[in-house]
Amino acid sequence: MFITFEGLDFCGKSTQVKLLADKLTAAGKKVKLLREPGGTRISEKIRDLLLDKKNSEMTIESELLLFSASRAQLVREVILPSLRKDYFVISDRFHDSSIAYQGYGRGINVQSVEAIQNFAINGAVPDITFFIDIPVEEMLLRKNKIADSQLDRIEVSVSEFYERVRNGYLEMSNRKKRFVVINGTEKIDIISQNIFSIISTKQKEKE
Ligand code: TYD
Repeated sequence: MFITFEGLDFCGKSTQVKLLADKLTAAGKKVKLLREPGGTRISEKIRDLLLDKKNSEMTIESELLLFSASRAQLVREVILPSLRKDYFVISDRFHDSSIAYQGYGRGINVQSVEAIQNFAINGAVPDITFFIDIPVEEMLLRKNKIADSQLDRIEVSVSEFYERVRNGYLEMSNRKKRFVVINGTEKIDIISQNIFSIISTKQKEKE
């Protein structure tokens, strides 16, 4: 099963990804945990380029193609081979991040971004996508607890940008059946239990 997690920065998805991986491993499943951008040697190099604040001259088109290039490598080198070996592949962000951030957020035509994603992912569409939703105000509160020097190139963006990204995710959640919206302001363990039970049900459906 291929499971992806999406949401605004600081929504808590990295915590949930880790908790789900632990629960599946404890249940005896083979789990492959990934983060985007990254996950292969080449993809990690692209990640450094993308998140480096010194690269302020990067155009939004280059940004989109670099995220997509990193993903194309990860899909072919890791995701598809792991799915063939019956792993649970869990990714902290995937192609919906490009649609939300570069499409809805940066304003690149959403249909074009989706076409580029189809090419990059080569049929590796997630079975289920958890969108951990928090209001932008909540994101800003969480972000203010972190020193500016620790924020990456994308995290320094302004709140209108994040409103567009969030609305994009909500719009995709209505449009795509694989999306499950999770209230990210709930307690960590409540969210985690909820996610695990959804995955268990989904797995029974598949069997
Ligand atoms: P990361 O440090 O992984 O953030 P997080 O833990 O919040 O996921 O940095 C990823 C940043 O890149 C994050 O701000 C979202 C952004 N991003 C895009 O804009 N497009 C993409 O396709 C992906 C995968 C990430």
